Amino acid sequence: MEKTKFGIQGLDKALEGGIPQGNLVLISGGAGTGKSTLCLQFLLNGANLFGEKALYISTEQSPEELYKQAASFGWDLEKLEEKNLLKILYFDITHGSNFLSEVDVVIKEFQPKRVAIDSMTTLTDALIIGGMGTQSDFSLVQVVEKVSPIPRTEQIIAKSILYKLIRELKKYKLTTLLTSELYEESKRLSADGISEFITDGVIIMHYIEIGVGDYRSLEVRKMRYSNYDKDIIPYAITEKGLEIMDKLQ
Ligand SMILES: Nc1ncnc2c1ncn2[C@@H]1O[C@H](COP(=O)(O)OP(=O)(O)O)[C@@H](O)[C@H]1O
Ligand SMILES: [Mg+2]
Repeated sequence: MEKTKFGIQGLDKALEGGIPQGNLVLISGGAGTGKSTLCLQFLLNGANLFGEKALYISTEQSPEELYKQAASFGWDLEKLEEKNLLKILYFDITHGSNFLSEVDVVIKEFQPKRVAIDSMTTLTDALIIGGMGTQSDFSLVQVVEKVSPIPRTEQIIAKSILYKLIRELKKYKLTTLLTSELYEESKRLSADGISEFITDGVIIMHYIEIGVGDYRSLEVRKMRYSNYDKDIIPYAITEKGLEIMDKLQ
C-alpha cells in the first residue's frame, strides 16, 4: 500500500509511513487546535518534498489570510502557486452553491495529488442553507423522503449532503484531508456525528490550557488499510509549524 507522507516526523511514524494513498481523512478538533496549520503543512510538504501538486479548498480563510498565516511560519504559498504546485480554491460560502461542480473542474484541470478541504463544517452548513445545486443532486434526501415519514429535518438533510459530498470526493481517489470543528467536551468524533463513519480515517486534535501551560495532543482514531499508533501524541505549534513532541512516558 502506497503511503502519502505528511512530511512531519513522528506523525508519519505513528501512521507507519503516512496516510494510505487515496484515503479521505477527517481532521477533527476545536478552534485553534491547529487543523488549518496541519492542512497547510500536508500540502506544502507534498509540493516541496515530493513534487506533488496540492489543492487547498478553503471555506473560512481567504487566500490573503492563508498567505498571512503561512508567512507567520515562514512558508511562501505564492511561490508554490507560481510553480503550479499549489492551488488555493476559495469557496465563498455566502455566494455560489455549486461546490461539487466547481471542485470537479479544478481537480480535472489541475490534477492534484493532495487535497485539503478546510473546513467541512462551514461547508456543510452553507450547503444546507444554500441547497447545494439542484434537488436532483440529492438522491439520498429523496430516498429519505420516500421511505420514511420523518419530516425533512435539517439533520437528515445535513447527513445526506455529507454522504453525497464524501462519496463524490472519494471518486477522485486523492489523498484528502477534511477538517471538522469539534467541541472539547463532545463525545463525537466530528461536528456532524457522521463523517467519522464514512471517511477512511480520523485524526483528533486536542488543546488544553492548564494554568500558564497549554497542552496539545493528537490521536489517530481510525485509518483504513493500515496499522497505526493508538497512543496520544503530544505536539506543539512553533514558528516552524506543527511539530510532534516526544511521547510522555
Ligand atoms: N506563527 C506561529 N507560531 C506559533 N504558533 C502559531 C503560529 N501561528 C499560529 N499558531 C498557533 O496555532 C493556532 C491556530 O492554528 P490553526 O491551524 O489556525 O487552528 P484551527 O484551524 O484548528 O482553528 C493559534 O491559535 C496559535 O496558537
Ligand atoms: Mg482553521
